[in-house]
Amino acid sequence: MGKNIAIFASGNGTNAENIIRCFQSRSDSPVVVLVVANRPQAKVLERAENLNVPAVYIPKEKWETGGAVLDLLTRYKVDFIVLAGFLAKVPDMVLHAYPSRIVNIHPSLLPKFGGKGMYGDRVHRAVVEAGERETGITIQYINERYDEGIIIAQYRCPVHPDDTPDDVAARVHALEYEHYPKVIKRLVMSLWALLP
Ligand code: GAR
Repeated sequence: MGKNIAIFASGNGTNAENIIRCFQSRSDSPVVVLVVANRPQAKVLERAENLNVPAVYIPKEKWETGGAVLDLLTRYKVDFIVLAGFLAKVPDMVLHAYPSRIVNIHPSLLPKFGGKGMYGDRVHRAVVEAGERETGITIQYINERYDEGIIIAQYRCPVHPDDTPDDVAARVHALEYEHYPKVIKRLVMSLWALLP
């Protein structure tokens, strides 16, 4: 087990960029060696390239079997996988090759506002419509089912009565940028420290 991370993402990639920047600024951090996207137009690909991180698009049909994804991870000697706005299923083959080594971030306090189809702005809209007074983020290991993996950490923020979904999104994103890199670093470094 080394300290090489791959980030899987589907869209904008602001979390991916934040994680890459945090880790590039410190020599004692894990290293993001690869970014993988499941959409060719995902902005995350451009963000990664601008930061000199190899960025690869893998088309939908190849995610169904998983062999091509696993080959890529092996080629880049990836030890740990971080999902950051990744909206597809991780193939079972990859899941089994990385036991307890794949983490996800979800923009609500799971089990609230989770499950298939609940992602990004849809979550913030649902939080506002439900009249919640609090929301936050959940960092979890993944398993075969959406948003049901073991929870590693949760962080909270208020929802004010006049908040729009965009207001909530901004507050939640700020929590993500603050905490996700720290939690990833803690997990990767503790796995690494267990090595003989
Ligand atoms: C993040 O808020 C992340 O928590 C969420 O997508 C957003 C991606 O933003 N993930 C999910 O909803 C997963 N169910 P980003 O592309 O700017 O990092």
